[in-house]
Amino acid sequence: MPIERAPIADHPTIFVILGITGDLASRKLLPALLTLYSKRLLPQRFAIIGFSRRQFSRDEFREHIREHLNVKPGQFREEDIKHFLDHMTYEQGFFDNAPAYERLSERLKSIDDRWGQCSNKLFHLSVPPSLYEGILNRLAESKLTRPCDDATGWTRILIEKPFGNDIEGARSLDRLLGRLFDERQIFRIDHYLAKESLQNILAFRFENPMFEPMWRREHIDKVHIKLFEKEALDSRGAFYDKLGAIKDVGQNHMLAMLALIAMNEPRSFSAEDIRRERARVLNSIKRVSASQLKKTAAKGQYRGFTAEHGVDPRSSTETYFRLAAQLSGSRWRGVPFFLESGKGMAESKTEIDIYFKGKKPKKGSQTPPDQNILTFRIQPDECIKIKFFVKHPGYGFKAEPKTLRFKYSDTPWQDEIPNDYERLIRDAFIGDQTLFASTDEIMASWRFITSVLENWDKVPMALYEKGASEI
Ligand code: BG6
Repeated sequence: MPIERAPIADHPTIFVILGITGDLASRKLLPALLTLYSKRLLPQRFAIIGFSRRQFSRDEFREHIREHLNVKPGQFREEDIKHFLDHMTYEQGFFDNAPAYERLSERLKSIDDRWGQCSNKLFHLSVPPSLYEGILNRLAESKLTRPCDDATGWTRILIEKPFGNDIEGARSLDRLLGRLFDERQIFRIDHYLAKESLQNILAFRFENPMFEPMWRREHIDKVHIKLFEKEALDSRGAFYDKLGAIKDVGQNHMLAMLALIAMNEPRSFSAEDIRRERARVLNSIKRVSASQLKKTAAKGQYRGFTAEHGVDPRSSTETYFRLAAQLSGSRWRGVPFFLESGKGMAESKTEIDIYFKGKKPKKGSQTPPDQNILTFRIQPDECIKIKFFVKHPGYGFKAEPKTLRFKYSDTPWQDEIPNDYERLIRDAFIGDQTLFASTDEIMASWRFITSVLENWDKVPMALYEKGASEI
């Protein structure tokens, strides 16, 4: 298993952030780029160009970025921040305005001229998905989707979830991307795939062959994948109201976790083989019928959601859901994979519990048999733990549950763990697509989610209080 991948390529690179003034850029992208810069993991020659609608003078732009850069006081040396900002410039323009892209193109060319070579170009669409199509078309019209030179600089596009608002939208976005780019140029972000604790699932499964024979329906009773968030909505009311929890995290993050738990061992750890296996298992999720959905699914909305800024006062959007996915094939037939997620819950935690089949119940016993449970705690307090049973000391024979635990915070690794966006940006620089979703994975996820959404209105809505631990 390749634990370490190739070091960052040192070819001059320009990172263009379309929507630089947005939340995603200041919360995730820029801190990740700054971290890579301070770790000396960016090419010697690199530039960041911010593109957005607002008017800024050079100094105002710098000040804006400095003010909105979401980093903790003292996290970086002031000198690093200052030099990092020196690499940034700004291009004002409306996203649907062709001349703005001509100006952007000239700006890129002038940097290449200064560097005396054709640099790599990475475009990140840091904008609402409704703007993707227009931006992609404008980029293509101004020839920005093409590398300036076949032999040296490449051009890549980084695109965020949600990929389409439904299966049709996903298909048409995919067709457009396919027309403008080669698959090797497209980096579709599902940042969960880049979480260290999620990648560790593959190491745990395939580097410890003792677990693999048990990784199937004869031994596993059920799998429960939870993504709970304590926070309700931040500033994204209007956006979230159109989406709901299933599309926001179900179609992507939750199914990405399912894929890593249920996939077969890939032939190799190449991006192609790993993505193929993830897609294969997602394709094996059975479509769910209306009657199954009514029996197994739940949805909820936290009280006060309809009063959030930007939310329709009559909104019937779910902020919580629970689904049961069934997979076909001899390995997983009959094993339910429960997917459960909510906002405004008692605590924030993402974890995956694998319940092993229990011992045979004792004769005459009414209590369900005890089960071994293997838990992957994805965040916070990343760990892997196993619930197992030991004899309570004494003259009798009584077994008691105990926990075997591996915790990242007990190791010296804590400071080495790259955050998800850091990892993604670095991988996009070096062209490693392992942690990016393929078009097959996205379409397979949408097929299952579409079968849920077709009958979603038949599932009754439960109202819950913020801070609920279960619904
Ligand atoms: C995003 C969703 O993709 O993931 C958000 O749009 C959610 O609603 C977030 O809060 C969770 O990501 P993380 O990394 O904070 O667990």
